[in-house]
Amino acid sequence: MKKTKIGIIGGGNMGGAIIGGICKEYNVSVREQDQKRLQWLKRKYKIVTGDLKTVVKRSQVIILAVKPRSFDSVLKELRPLLKQDQLVISIAAGITCRYVEKRLGTKTRVIRAMPNLPAQVGEGITGICAGKAAGKKDLIFAQVLFSRVGVTAVLEEKYMDALTAASGSGPAYVFLFIESMTKAVRALGFDEKTSRALVLRTIIGSLDLLVQQKEDAGVLRARVTSKGGTTQAAMDVFAKHDFKMVFKEALSAAKKRAKELSK
Ligand SMILES: NC(=O)c1ccc[n+]([C@@H]2O[C@H](COP(=O)([O-])OP(=O)(O)OC[C@H]3O[C@@H](n4cnc5c(N)ncnc54)[C@H](OP(=O)(O)O)[C@@H]3O)[C@@H](O)[C@H]2O)c1
Repeated sequence: MKKTKIGIIGGGNMGGAIIGGICKEYNVSVREQDQKRLQWLKRKYKIVTGDLKTVVKRSQVIILAVKPRSFDSVLKELRPLLKQDQLVISIAAGITCRYVEKRLGTKTRVIRAMPNLPAQVGEGITGICAGKAAGKKDLIFAQVLFSRVGVTAVLEEKYMDALTAASGSGPAYVFLFIESMTKAVRALGFDEKTSRALVLRTIIGSLDLLVQQKEDAGVLRARVTSKGGTTQAAMDVFAKHDFKMVFKEALSAAKKRAKELSK
């Protein structure tokens, strides 16, 4: 069977992650303006490269993976090159399907996708929604494609800001947690290397347990917290500083910012 031809515009962090995930299953061509990055991608993956015209001409699906600030100029260049039957997938944070449709023509089939950083190791989660002209087939196509870099969730576009706050920014919350816990362990007297190993192993083990036992995190937390014990002493401090409220406020701020930046 012939491989679907995918053109990727922007082979940076996320574009590169997608290329890595899909280049064996699809026929991938890339337009990347940074020559050093382009050479690196060419050495690492089996891809065709070229200017925008070449990449668009040979592709059935075009993935837009440039930063929102470069987005308008790419859309402007893309419009006269685009054919009716080509599907456009945008991963630009905060750029709505409507915005893309308005600039590429309202009949253009547009899919908006929001992956996250763990896509770089095939463990991402990508939220996907469809524009006005895109159909179920296009959504399924995007799901299959992004499943190469993790799991996918189809949702209505009105949930994209919330998804951005949850899974888009989510890795940073986890890294902050790990960073804080490692510092705290270090303050207990362990060296850097041991602190890192203790924290990472604890987190990986706890996650495995959570996934394998299919329990709520709250249930497992209660299970390791015996009354009057060491864990309880730590939990009391978290409660004093209203850790759960801090999280709620932080995510709500992220969602608000996603909405403000959205266009
Ligand atoms: N990183 C994430 O975790 C993440 C998550 C979800 C969504 N996204 C979205 O993914 C998009 C890309 O983000 P990123 O982090 O991958 O950015 P990035 O690393 O800066 O990658 C973008 C790449 O595109 C290149 N580029 C810019 N304009 C171009 C053009 N006209 N033609 C060809 N290449 C061009 C850039 O080159 P120069 O460096 O020379 O400009 C850069 O190498 C953004 O819209 C972002 O919102 C990212």
